[in-house]
Amino acid sequence: MRIDKAQLNHSEIIDRIRTGKRQFGKQLVILTHHYQRKEIVDLGDFVGDSFELSRKAAADRDCRYIIFCGVHFMAESAAILAQPNQVVQIPNVEAGCWMAGMAEAETVRSAWEQIESVVGMGSISPVVYMNSDAELKSFCGNHGGLVCTSSNAAKAVRWAFGQKEKVLFFPDQHLGRNVGHDLGIAPEEMVVWSPGNVLGGNDPDALKRARIILWDGYCLVHTRFTVEQIEKMRSEFPEARIVVHPECTREVVARADACGSTSYIVKYVKEAPPGSTIVIGTEINLINRLALEYPDRKVLDLHYSLCPNMFKINLVNLLQAIENIGELNVVKVPEATKAGARLALDRMLALA
Ligand code: 13P
Ligand code: SF4
Repeated sequence: MRIDKAQLNHSEIIDRIRTGKRQFGKQLVILTHHYQRKEIVDLGDFVGDSFELSRKAAADRDCRYIIFCGVHFMAESAAILAQPNQVVQIPNVEAGCWMAGMAEAETVRSAWEQIESVVGMGSISPVVYMNSDAELKSFCGNHGGLVCTSSNAAKAVRWAFGQKEKVLFFPDQHLGRNVGHDLGIAPEEMVVWSPGNVLGGNDPDALKRARIILWDGYCLVHTRFTVEQIEKMRSEFPEARIVVHPECTREVVARADACGSTSYIVKYVKEAPPGSTIVIGTEINLINRLALEYPDRKVLDLHYSLCPNMFKINLVNLLQAIENIGELNVVKVPEATKAGARLALDRMLALA
């Protein structure tokens, strides 16, 4: 049943969502990502970063329905990790992720073949960021690699180096570079692979020397943050601590005081002493919520940056998902893709 927005006001929609939640009780779990609007997070059963949400989806064996308020790759990962009798729905199937769209399975397969032809078969491990399609996770699982999120990327890359001498990290070049830096890998040992160019735009010797090959993908929400913005904030608020997400460029991360996943940022604000000033470089909905939750700290955005994909989930489509439980916008992953993707996700979950 479709809902006519014009017929319902805000509080009626919330009432109907609450009624639906009561009706399904423990059979329904609503998972919400930190970048969701406050009204969605408030109605959810659990809020977390990508890693926590995937762990929750894998662990929650009692519920029958999971409604995932986040972007498509997150709901897809939940569908891969869920039990066969569980149904995962996303309130709006249009909620994709730009970065996930920057690496397609066919292009990655071609890159892999080209890289192996230069550096030799069996010398490279693939590490795929959670922000990717199931097919890429499957590719990783089937090629001895694993998935990572922003909260465990260093562990994942270390694990991958334990398997092979080189790592192909995709799609986010910035997260890959930030992790490489944290693991002590020199900038000249990391090359960028530009899909569409022969050898990704590299000469064979550079590929042979490289330890990490970084896919040329990025997040448009996080690459909006700049060193100039940090300098401006530092001069206006010299007492401020600045925390950013690792999808920001290396230059921005290097000038911040701290860097971590969305849950790390939440913890950073929670643990900051009352009266302190915290400037945050990540998606604006999370920052706005933190500012409301901690009125005794000054929580400021480094720059206004909204993820329009996360914003595609709203009260109306959440209600629609609940009132069409088990039927509307069910996220399905082909069985052939599931096995390899599950292997790559399980390797990540085992890191913890
Ligand atoms: P987290 O895993 O830190 O929640 O990040 C997800 C994401 O898409 C950031 O842009
Ligand atoms: Fe994708 Fe960037 Fe939005 Fe995260 S913030 S979901 S990486 S577009």
